[in-house]
Amino acid sequence: MFSDAWKTGRLHAEFQTETTAPANIAWVKYWGKKGPQLPANPSLSLTLTESRTHTILQATPASDLKLELWFQGQREEKFEKKTLAFLASLAAELPSLGHAHYKITSRNTFPHSSGIASSASSQAALALALGELLAHISGTFADINAVGSLARLGSGSACRSFFPGFVTWGETSLIQGSSDLHAMDVTPQVHANFHGAKDCILIVSSKEKTVSSRAGHGQMSAHPYAHARFAQANLHMSEMWHALTTGDWQKAGNVMEADALSLHALMMTSRPGFVLLEPGSLEIMRLVRLFREESQVPVYFTIDAGPNMHLIYPHEAHAKVEAFVRHELLRLTENGSGVIWDGMGTLT
Ligand code: PMV
Repeated sequence: MFSDAWKTGRLHAEFQTETTAPANIAWVKYWGKKGPQLPANPSLSLTLTESRTHTILQATPASDLKLELWFQGQREEKFEKKTLAFLASLAAELPSLGHAHYKITSRNTFPHSSGIASSASSQAALALALGELLAHISGTFADINAVGSLARLGSGSACRSFFPGFVTWGETSLIQGSSDLHAMDVTPQVHANFHGAKDCILIVSSKEKTVSSRAGHGQMSAHPYAHARFAQANLHMSEMWHALTTGDWQKAGNVMEADALSLHALMMTSRPGFVLLEPGSLEIMRLVRLFREESQVPVYFTIDAGPNMHLIYPHEAHAKVEAFVRHELLRLTENGSGVIWDGMGTLT
């Protein structure tokens, strides 16, 4: 997975780098793993622009591995433990990483651990920093797929954050060149109708979720519906791919909603089952469907592993969706003001 050049060498002087990476929102979800953090099914996502993690990594040469982690201006012991374990696991394959004392200072533009794919942006930003460190130590360039693999080992969905626009991860016969090992930019194949797609994120609750994605993925190996889900995810991929390449918003939106609800149904029917949705999430679903039916505005919802709602729509519909959100949905969000206006960046 990693080049031999990355497996040798040692850090000799203090190194510092600053990176940033965006979150992404899956339209067809990855839920369940196999092997070394490989996806049980292919997924497809939209990379966002506003929701990001900024990270500063400082590394000092040392005989052992230590870490101090600061997040949003505070020392964060929980993340520190997790990240230290991650660095130690990487060091088993990339020994130079095991001989440094690290200080990581990170900040998000949005709440973490509440199902806004914060692990995607934070692990992608960390992988970029580690890729730069390894490139510096070995005197080589950091290859995007190798950095993507570093990110994937930290959080599966993070490997999709390296490309703007529409991104797929996981092998599928639908897309030539797709791989379980790294993500792939498919924006050029996606119909212009979807370019500039918007994502209005409604923060129903920014409280840290009670069950981590890692635990949820783990439950899939013994889930009674696992087989049916993986077949369904592949079907959703094929329907979504057809919709995206033909410009069919209605079809893409219907598949997106079905896939998000399926994700939450899997959580509820795990052993032990868990519910991440809040009453406000359900009310937003109901109101979005009602508004869509009455106004014919193509706005659809999706949800990651948390209670927060993503409204996905074409950029042309922004004024109408904005008015709808302000009049009918804001009151259901945290403090009546939990909204992030995000979406796909403009293509240059
Ligand atoms: O990237 P992870 O391992 O934290 O898993 C996240 C999975 C979902 O966000 C629920 C779905 C997805 O494909 O992004």
